[in-house]
Amino acid sequence: MDRRAPLEGKVVIVTGAAGAIGRAISAFLAADGARVVTADLNDSAVEAVAESIRADGHDAWATTVDVTRDDGPESLVRAAVARYGRLDAIVANAGILSISPILEMPVAEWDRIFAVNTRGVFLCFQAAARQLVAQGTGGRLIATASIAAKMGSPFQAHYQASKAALLGLIRSAAWEFGPHGITVNAFCPGNVDSPMWGVIDRDRGALLGKAPGELFKEVAGRSPLGRTQVPADIPPLVSFLVSDGSGAITGQAMNVDNGVVMY
Ligand SMILES: NC(=O)c1ccc[n+]([C@@H]2O[C@H](COP(=O)([O-])OP(=O)(O)OC[C@H]3O[C@@H](n4cnc5c(N)ncnc54)[C@H](O)[C@@H]3O)[C@@H](O)[C@H]2O)c1
Repeated sequence: MDRRAPLEGKVVIVTGAAGAIGRAISAFLAADGARVVTADLNDSAVEAVAESIRADGHDAWATTVDVTRDDGPESLVRAAVARYGRLDAIVANAGILSISPILEMPVAEWDRIFAVNTRGVFLCFQAAARQLVAQGTGGRLIATASIAAKMGSPFQAHYQASKAALLGLIRSAAWEFGPHGITVNAFCPGNVDSPMWGVIDRDRGALLGKAPGELFKEVAGRSPLGRTQVPADIPPLVSFLVSDGSGAITGQAMNVDNGVVMY
């Protein structure tokens, strides 16, 4: 393996690639040598992500996907294989969040969050695994969970539960796909300085009677490292999980969160 291009030759799909974390992951994987299929609901934004990766001299191709559609991830995998001839990994990263107290939460809001964060990841894994099993090459199924999967937070029961469910998914999928040489893992970002955390700070902060910026500062301050987490902190772990070097790791949910959660 060329250590300067550890992902050379690998074809990797990243969903939610137009978002703060998906953008950072896509650019990093491409710089590590992967051919990256950037996929998102937001077609113009995801096209811009692929363009900027290509402008840096790396390989990326953008396509639109709605991971909530039954046939969305399947069409995505088909398009990736039509473009690059194979698949090696999927990073099921698309996710959404809202703030809603349980007493007032419309059931439709619970369903909306699960449709993207949980069902969407299941559909991505199923579609990618069908391709990987048919190829007979092994591969990687990777989900963006969150430290929310491992801890409670007020007014986010739907989000926490949607991410916690991914831990059950990866553990069972690891058993089903292990015999095919396919590893299945999740990674758990913490409090990332990003638009998504901007919503938490504003909406959860307001319900808790906090001034703008106060909640983010408070939770980020729980880190032993005493530093703010940024999107660029996430991709090195993802690149490692995609790489051949992670072949002995499966069924794991690794925190990349400044040490806020330690299990
Ligand atoms: N930002 C954080 O602090 C944080 C912390 C822990 C985990 N996460 C998780 O990381 C992932 C990325 O978060 P982010 O901060 O980049 O969020 P973001 O809102 O910036 O990006 C999410 C992307 O997903 C896309 N998307 C939404 N619904 C979709 C659908 N149905 N089909 C396809 N794409 C869809 C959006 O268009 C957007 O580009 C999410 O799964 C999120 O839950 C984020």
